[in-house]
Amino acid sequence: MRSLITPALEYEESYRSYIDELGDAERYPFTLDFEFDDFSALVTRLDNFSLGIDLPDDFVPNTTYWLVEDGEIIGVFSLRHHMTERLKRLGGHIGFGVRPSAQGRGVAKELLRQTLAQAGRLGLSEVLVVCLKENVASSRVIEANGGALESEYSVPEYDGLLLRYAIPIDKGTS
Ligand SMILES: CC(C)(COP(=O)(O)OP(=O)(O)OC[C@H]1O[C@@H](n2cnc3c(N)ncnc32)[C@H](O)[C@@H]1OP(=O)(O)O)[C@@H](O)C(=O)NCCC(=O)NCCS
Repeated sequence: MRSLITPALEYEESYRSYIDELGDAERYPFTLDFEFDDFSALVTRLDNFSLGIDLPDDFVPNTTYWLVEDGEIIGVFSLRHHMTERLKRLGGHIGFGVRPSAQGRGVAKELLRQTLAQAGRLGLSEVLVVCLKENVASSRVIEANGGALESEYSVPEYDGLLLRYAIPIDKGTS
């Protein structure tokens, strides 16, 4: 059985094995780059991010969710509570990634569906999701959750084209 949780101390071992599995791959969402030697400090930092406490300049409140199956974290999503002009171009509301050994079996689709329900609870009526055009798996996940392509563009910060999708929040599922 899978459940969506916010970061919790008892998943330290699973979190560490998730990062090990990622190896040198780029970590999505961005919170996976946070220091985690002191795991308790990481959990506090993530909680604070969600509450808007101790945010670095230009950051907005952001809630991290872990999808857990049989005691293991198999996917990580982050949900930003609102957008700035910069985030509309570069980050969007939602960032996501799935443990490599759990990829290819619908985990991201389910995780995004559940995260959209959380976005509805936050009062959002639409979320923006930005991905690289070359990331076909990511586009499929977004489109399977009702994402409509809003624009295709380039930015100085990245090579390659970016796609921005808008996903309406179905209030009935939140
Ligand atoms: C993108 C990612 C989250 C997808 O997770 P997942 O759990 O494997 O995705 P799902 O199984 O729910 O569905 C993936 C869809 O993409 C397809 N897909 C998977 N890998 C693919 C690939 N390399 N090329 C094309 N399509 C691919 C699957 O077939 C499926 O589509 P379908 O249902 O139409 O067949 C995962 O690959 C990942 O973590 N990648 C690294 C981080 C990342 O890129 N995050 C997104 C940043 S915007």
